Amino acid sequence: MDLYEAIYKRRIVRDFKEKSVPDETLKKIIDAGLQAPTHDHLRNWEFVILKDKEDKERALQFVRQGVEPTLEILKQTLVNGTPQQKMYAVAMPRQYSMLMNASHIILPFFKANSAVMKPTCVRSLNPLSSVWCVIENIFLAATAEGLACSMRIPVGEEGVNVAKVIGAPQNYLLPCYIGLGYACEDNIELEQVKYSAEEKMHFGKW
Ligand SMILES: Cc1cc2nc3c(=O)[nH]c(=O)nc-3n(C[C@H](O)[C@H](O)[C@H](O)COP(=O)(O)O)c2cc1C
Repeated sequence: MDLYEAIYKRRIVRDFKEKSVPDETLKKIIDAGLQAPTHDHLRNWEFVILKDKEDKERALQFVRQGVEPTLEILKQTLVNGTPQQKMYAVAMPRQYSMLMNASHIILPFFKANSAVMKPTCVRSLNPLSSVWCVIENIFLAATAEGLACSMRIPVGEEGVNVAKVIGAPQNYLLPCYIGLGYACEDNIELEQVKYSAEEKMHFGKW
């Protein structure tokens, strides 16, 4: 798949088919992640891959199982909400299932220093910024392979707790969980607010 096609096709999905991603494909996708730019030349990233039900359950024990939008107010949001509200109404009940039902969960850890959690300038966040380049490469490579990803940001102590139960060293942080798999054909296509480059470009000065 052409790079631009992958960029335009990439979507966060939250409903997956019961179909396993081959190991070779998974390796290609992680390798694509490792090609990302790195602030310190060291590519201090490690990937914990979860495939077995028990391993997934252990890692996801801190993610609250969502409730389907059966409440009238949530149903109304799905029909009448802004694109952002609709995204929340679809996403919130699926925070657990979109990871549990994915073929694999990828936990992309990065090596952090004390500055990341107490930043004094943007540069303090370099380890975090670098790992997000990795994550986008993973998303695009997955799309190019005909796959899709879900993603959740750990809330509160969730990330530290997951790191502990899967045995990650203390100085490695989890920026997000990634679910990887084959998207269901009837996935809800969420409306996007469209922007054009012309609206966003400022030549010479803002
Ligand atoms: C920094 C960041 C945090 C996000 N956090 C979550 C999350 O916790 N749960 C979730 O379901 N989606 C999460 N998303 C996915 C967004 O909802 C999604 O990217 C957005 O709706 C745009 O849709 P698209 O990625 O399909 O273009 C996050 C995305 C980003 C970039």
